[in-house]
Amino acid sequence: MAMVCLSDFEAYAKKYLPKIAWDFFAAGADDCSTRDENILAYKRIRFRPRMLRDVSMMDIRTKLLGTEISFPVGIAPTGFHQLAWPDGEKSTARAAKAMNTCYIASTYSTCTLEDISAAAPGGLRWFQLYIHRNRAVSQQLVQRAEALGFQGLVLTADLPYTGKRRDDVRNGFRLPPHMKLKNLEGAFEVCKMSLLDPSVTWNDIYWLRSLTHLPIIIKGILTKEDAELAVRHGVQGIIVSNHGGRQLDGGPATIDALVEVAEAVQGRVEVYLDGGIRKGSDVLKALALGAKCVFIGRPALWGLAYKGEEGLQDVLRILQDEFRLSMALAG
Ligand code: FNR
Repeated sequence: MAMVCLSDFEAYAKKYLPKIAWDFFAAGADDCSTRDENILAYKRIRFRPRMLRDVSMMDIRTKLLGTEISFPVGIAPTGFHQLAWPDGEKSTARAAKAMNTCYIASTYSTCTLEDISAAAPGGLRWFQLYIHRNRAVSQQLVQRAEALGFQGLVLTADLPYTGKRRDDVRNGFRLPPHMKLKNLEGAFEVCKMSLLDPSVTWNDIYWLRSLTHLPIIIKGILTKEDAELAVRHGVQGIIVSNHGGRQLDGGPATIDALVEVAEAVQGRVEVYLDGGIRKGSDVLKALALGAKCVFIGRPALWGLAYKGEEGLQDVLRILQDEFRLSMALAG
């Protein structure tokens, strides 16, 4: 099977993954209108291409909080990579390093932060945090990540409770017994999402600030009001995200929300986006509308499901080539 575009990896993953894993990756909340809107919204946005601008040399590198990456696409935090590939997050870390981009490792990784670091020493990694009711658990995770050389702390703000994903309910989704939430082992005996703290507020940014020197990036912002609050509370970055449409169904596509967030922020902190990026031209649209970089969630999982580290590199390389071509053709 020739893998030409990201949909080819999606088709492969759908065909070969166990249904329960595919359904978990694909899931959106309720009737999935926000999940689907993330993708449809790109199709409504059109370029105004310019011609004869010498596109023979192009530089697609960018910087994330001062660190250079090879092109403006990183890997969003997603849980349970061993559902896609036996080596799980270790493969993800290796692929991200090989492609010189940023990998945001999830709290819900199936490999330890130590194993992830050891798999790809020196790679650019941020750690994504869900704040647990037992604050000592979260504190310890943050400090472990910092000690291991993770370079940013991503606080996910849009999951006080887990959205209602119908297929997961129907399938009775849970991790197979041989997979574990490796970073929470010892903290809990079983996977209980309900241990997340729904009482988190903006004041907790100050608590996080007191724990770590790492830059704090807040993920899940969709409005200018929250963007302003994020800047006022001293974060270094904002990821415009609706969790891939897995949380509140009925919210905006992230590419539509990006415009008001970027306008409110006015360059005071870096603004990124995730949700619905499936082509290089989607990346270009997000950059044109104010994002410094975008992140991919599900497409990274499809790459892993195809061929582990190699498959994820293929996905990133395809996006990179498509992005470069779109830039050239748009002048
Ligand atoms: C996620 N997402 C997510 N976000 C987060 O902050 N922590 C997490 O552990 C997870 N886990 C997770 C699992 C799966 C299977 C998916 C699909 C998503 C959300 C993720 O970071 C990102 O916001 C979306 O995936 C982006 O949308 P696309 O690229 O999947 O369309």
